[in-house]
Amino acid sequence: MRVARFLTPLLFAAALFAQHTYTLADIENGGRLYLANCTVCHGPDGDLQPGVNLGRGKFRRASSDDELEQIITKGIPGTGMPSHDLTPQQVESVVAYLRSMAASGHSTLPSGNAARGKAIFEGKGECLNCHRVHGSGSYSGPDLSDIGLVRRTAELEKSLVDPNAEILPDNRVVHVVTKDGKEMTARLLNADTLALLVLDAQGQLHSYSKSDLREYSLMKDSSMPSYKGKLTTQEMGDVVSYMASLKGAETR
Ligand code: HEC
Ligand code: HEC
Repeated sequence: MRVARFLTPLLFAAALFAQHTYTLADIENGGRLYLANCTVCHGPDGDLQPGVNLGRGKFRRASSDDELEQIITKGIPGTGMPSHDLTPQQVESVVAYLRSMAASGHSTLPSGNAARGKAIFEGKGECLNCHRVHGSGSYSGPDLSDIGLVRRTAELEKSLVDPNAEILPDNRVVHVVTKDGKEMTARLLNADTLALLVLDAQGQLHSYSKSDLREYSLMKDSSMPSYKGKLTTQEMGDVVSYMASLKGAETR
């Protein structure tokens, strides 16, 4: 999974600098818990179980947050919904995430064709200039090989249409200038009071001692270009279908 892959460099960094990370702490807790505990059965959009849709804010068996918390903690006896060994605080954050799924809207693009989307992704969309899928492409943006498992359709769509709306902390880009004048723009993997760890477009890790840097700054805007107006809505729908089909397994 993406999370596991992302953790590896962080753990590595932690060992390197014996530091804590702010990137992970920033990430919405409930979303992570959902990803770790619920996606396997309910899917990123919450609609994988027949008759159940966790993404709409309406539930057959619960109306209040308390009832949802009960269901998550105790499961639903006699069904496939298991109990969960989570702290009350964790359960609350999962409920908050379920509520946010409903609030974050629904798809507005026409439904697409994944095969056409793949052709656009690799061709005219030039997505591989920045992203990797199953081992080909660049490292300057996040690897999208399993993006269909971890992001909802509405989120994939938002990445294309309005990429600055929500940049995940693990996707932040930093610009550094060293005291001897070298410049680099790269993905920030980790930062603490003394050092930065970044990943460049070739997949090389670099660590900088802050005392060796003339300046460093987080880039406010995403380097992910908006495709609004560059691709037709049908083409964007196709690319979103292709990304929704990327579930980690290599298809060589
Ligand atoms: C092993 C598979 C599995 C896992 C893991 C799982 N669920 Fe479920 N869940 C189900 C099934 C199956 C149902 C449908 C039960 C029924 O009503 O027949 C369900 C039902 C629900 C319902 C009730 C839906 C409604 O409309 O009333 C909620 C809420 C829910 N799950 C939330 C979660 C959350 C949150 C997690 C993660 C913390 C989770 N589930 C993890 C299988 C699972
Ligand atoms: C110029 C480089 C660049 C190009 C070209 C590019 N991206 Fe991105 N993309 C990024 C960066 C950097 C991020 C991470 C920052 C962010 O989330 O905005 C990103 C983020 C994303 C995300 C969100 C990933 C996540 O973890 O949620 C998706 C989805 C995505 N891009 C899809 C695409 C698609 C599809 C194309 C082609 C149509 C494309 N990108 C083209 C640089 C690029």
